[in-house]
Amino acid sequence: MKAIFRTAYGSADILELREIDKPVPKEHELLVKVCAASVNPLDWHILRGDPFLVRLMGFGLLKPKHQILGADMAGRIEAVGKNVTQFKAGDEIFGSSMGGFAEYACISEKRAALKPAATTFEEAAAVPVAGITALQSLRDHGRLQSGQDVLINGASGGVGTFAVQIAKVMGARVTGVCSGRNVEMVRSIGADEVIDYTKEDYWLSDKKYDLIVDTAAFYSVRKPLRALKPAGICVLVGGSASTASILISLIFNPLISRIEGKKLVSFMANINQSDLVFLREQLDSRKIVPVIDRKYSLSETPEAIRYVEGGHARGKVVIVI
Ligand SMILES: NC(=O)c1ccc[n+]([C@@H]2O[C@H](COP(=O)([O-])OP(=O)(O)OC[C@H]3O[C@@H](n4cnc5c(N)ncnc54)[C@H](OP(=O)(O)O)[C@@H]3O)[C@@H](O)[C@H]2O)c1
Repeated sequence: MKAIFRTAYGSADILELREIDKPVPKEHELLVKVCAASVNPLDWHILRGDPFLVRLMGFGLLKPKHQILGADMAGRIEAVGKNVTQFKAGDEIFGSSMGGFAEYACISEKRAALKPAATTFEEAAAVPVAGITALQSLRDHGRLQSGQDVLINGASGGVGTFAVQIAKVMGARVTGVCSGRNVEMVRSIGADEVIDYTKEDYWLSDKKYDLIVDTAAFYSVRKPLRALKPAGICVLVGGSASTASILISLIFNPLISRIEGKKLVSFMANINQSDLVFLREQLDSRKIVPVIDRKYSLSETPEAIRYVEGGHARGKVVIVI
């Protein structure tokens, strides 16, 4: 099979399209013929081993453990491991596992679900990591209630475009923050108000929010806290990603939350089947529609990763296989 392969940490320049053996599924895994994959910032972090913390999280200290990247995929099951109970060959699935930038990949059955019937493989592949991150930031960490005011910073990105739509499904009043060129798109996916961050700093306005989901926290965390109502919650999803800034925020954010009397939460998304099923239901009823910015072929994956690394994707970037 063809796969985008690497043997070391580095930039997208080190990625090669290679012919390699098909993977063999373990007992609880599915062998999937990948029809589409999508790119996440996670891919370039694992590609580069940057921040260094990534290497300490089991991705390989000096040499990468994963030769094939691609955490999101959708495709058709070709074979199942001997202890798989929920799926059979021929089922169309979507889910998350390393190895999606290839013609075939193995995925644990616990991190897969039947593909929404109403979506294409390309749309389904756009969902797992970004959709689950958005869902968990709003529902689990932000405890969003119907009728509340939520602000999504980075509303035009992969996570942000899902967060805007999921927050509307949950009955919230949504303000999205993005640059001017994305204002109309963010409005079109349901945001009630949109702030252009090149013209206005949302934390300087009089409007206060019950919840801020911040996917682009490139500033001091005291700024979003200023825009929260007294018992508000700020969920930090992404932004500055140096090892130093992550360690500093792990140490100081609880202290800052206590001083300011507002909750500041950081988290890592937990990919699981029940959240994929929740998202499938929303996708099937078209309450959530993935926003796809660009599509690339498998051989163009390095270009796709460079584009996402630029930090200005509009929704998701998909690899069509
Ligand atoms: N905690 C977790 O488990 C988890 C899971 C997934 C992702 N993440 C992290 O979350 C972040 C977002 O992920 P993603 O997939 O949404 O990334 P993405 O698709 O690359 O996000 C790009 C978007 O960010 C926006 N943006 C850039 N600078 C901004 C700024 N100063 N203010 C507001 N928006 C800005 C861009 O909008 P403009 O072009 O309009 O500037 C663009 O639409 C990343 O740092 C990622 O690593 C964390």
